[in-house]
This record gives sequence, C-alpha cells and structure tokens, in this order.
Amino acid sequence: MKHLKAWSGYLGLVAVVLLLSGCFGEQNLTALDPKGPQAQWIFDNMMLSLYIMAFVTLVVFAIFFYILAKFRREDGDNEYPKQVHGSTVLEITWTVIPILLLLVLFVPTIIGTFDFAESQAPDDVEDAVYIDVTGHQYWWQFDYEEGFTAGQEVYIPTGERVYFNLNAQDVIHSFWVPALGGKIDTVPGIDNTLWLEADEPGTYMGKCAELCGPSHALMDFKLIALEREDYDQWVEDMVAKADVEQPEDASVQAGYDVFQESCISCHAVSGPGSASGPTLTNFGDRKTIAGYLENTDEQLEAWIRNPDEFKQGNNMQPFPDMPDEEMDALIAYLRSLEVREEGDPE
Ligand code: CUA
Repeated sequence: MKHLKAWSGYLGLVAVVLLLSGCFGEQNLTALDPKGPQAQWIFDNMMLSLYIMAFVTLVVFAIFFYILAKFRREDGDNEYPKQVHGSTVLEITWTVIPILLLLVLFVPTIIGTFDFAESQAPDDVEDAVYIDVTGHQYWWQFDYEEGFTAGQEVYIPTGERVYFNLNAQDVIHSFWVPALGGKIDTVPGIDNTLWLEADEPGTYMGKCAELCGPSHALMDFKLIALEREDYDQWVEDMVAKADVEQPEDASVQAGYDVFQESCISCHAVSGPGSASGPTLTNFGDRKTIAGYLENTDEQLEAWIRNPDEFKQGNNMQPFPDMPDEEMDALIAYLRSLEVREEGDPE
C-alpha cells in the first residue's frame, strides 16, 4: 500500500511535467514567456499569486508539523488533553489574513482589467492603429481602417498599443495571443475591446480560446509584428493590392478566370470586407492555409479538393473534380496574391 502511494505520487509528477511541456512546444505560444507589456503584467501577477500560495502553504505546513511534533503522545500519556472549542482570536486572524492577501491580488487585477479594455488611444497619440476583428467558424477576419481586409494573419506595428474591436459572425469565439496578452471573447452582436502591444518584431501564434464547433482547436491565426516603418509599408502595399481587380501578371489570367468561376462568391481578393470566406488579398504571403496547414502547393490542392478532411465542419465548398490544369492555374493565381517580398522582415 505504501509503495502504491509513492508510485501514484511519481506518476502525478510525470503527468504535470508532460502537461507543462505543452506550454513550451510552439514558438511564441506561451503566456510563460511574455513578449509585451500586457503579457508581462499577467505573468507578474500570476507569479505574485503563486508566491502568495507558496508562502501560505509553507506557513500552514510548518505549523502543522510543529504541532504534530510538539503535541505527539508521549509514553504514559493516558488522559485526553484539554479540548478547545472556538477561539475568537483565531477566527479573526484567519479571516483577516486571507482578506489582506486577496486585496493584494484584487487591486492590481481591477486596475489591469480596466486598462486592458481601453478602446481608444490617449489624445496625445496621433496615429494609433485600430483593427476590427471578426471571428467566424473557423477563421479570423481583420478589417483595417485604411479600407482593406486581411484574413488569418493580423499585422501590427511594434512598441505601441494596437486597439482591437472584436465581434463574431456566427457563434462565440475567443481571441487569444498568449505571448502578448489576455484573451477576450468575440460575441455576435457585442463589441468587445482589447489592446495588445508587441515589444519585438516577430510572429506570434494566436488561438481561438472558446469552444465553437468541431474545428475549434484548429482555429489558429498569426499575429505578425513589424517595426513601424515596415508596418506602414505593408499597409501601403495592402491598400494598393486591394485596389487591383484584374491580375497584373498575364501569366495568371487563366487562374484568375477559374477563381472568378469557382471562388469569387465566397472569397474577395480586393476591397474591404468579406463574403463568407476569408479575404485572399495577400494569400501568397500567408504562412499557413486555413490557419494551420503549411502553405505548400500540394497542401493547397488537397485543401481545395476536400477542405472538410482538414477542418471538419468548415463552410468551404469542396472541388474534388476540378481538372488538374485548372487547379494548377488557380494555385498560380493564388500564389500571385502577395504584397511581401523575399527578405522582408518577418
Ligand atoms: Cu472559434 Cu473556438
């Protein structure tokens, strides 16, 4: 029996290590390695509560073992010790101490919660970035004030607060970039607000954090933070790209025709807003297809032929019988939808 208990303890420890290893797997997908002021604040408060818990545990166990040792039964003790029922001093003590500890957590939590929900930049900030976020089953739409739309990958400048206004098209989703800050639900018909700030340029993983259907776990997105001047360039390029109706490159005209025939009723490539599927203005720049599949030609073809195989319950129409030459032309056209060049900062 003793051995069994010891082993179950070891197994528990192994389970905890395995669970925690999930927190460090993917790059920039952990709240335990904060990359922005908001995430840092959350991390600091988490550590503060952890230290408080550790301190309380230590004190309680110290008293516990002290009492065990001091009042253990000695040889010859045959009488009941004095029985104590109720102690006003103790009652007050163990009520007041937790209240004080809770206050230590409560005050910064409230201040932070209100600060994070701030939806407007202070008056002295001139060119703050505002982005509308819409959650869909199972993809993300990002509308920029400059009049263009991005899908699945949201670009922001570094070193400043970027203000998100969040909404959902169908069911409740939750927008979460763990390395940068807290998560917030996107709810149909309700505007939620949140700002995020990235200290350094980089690609940060985002997740849908609210169970929203069979492919909830695959509703990933990426947040790409660029230095302000690179960001401004990207915005300029996106504005220009969103103006283009016809392909500039004649070699992808055939693919454009296929797109007009089969895809345009759900996917926009120009202008702001979206039909029912992600806007593809900069599809060629995307690191992933559908938010999580590697963006290769083979994968893209497999996705177009049978999207449900990869993302169960998604709304995209399958094209299992599209002739190979049409498929190749379509893929070439989709590849031409890019605004970033090789060597651009990631
Ligand atoms: Cu969207 Cu979970």
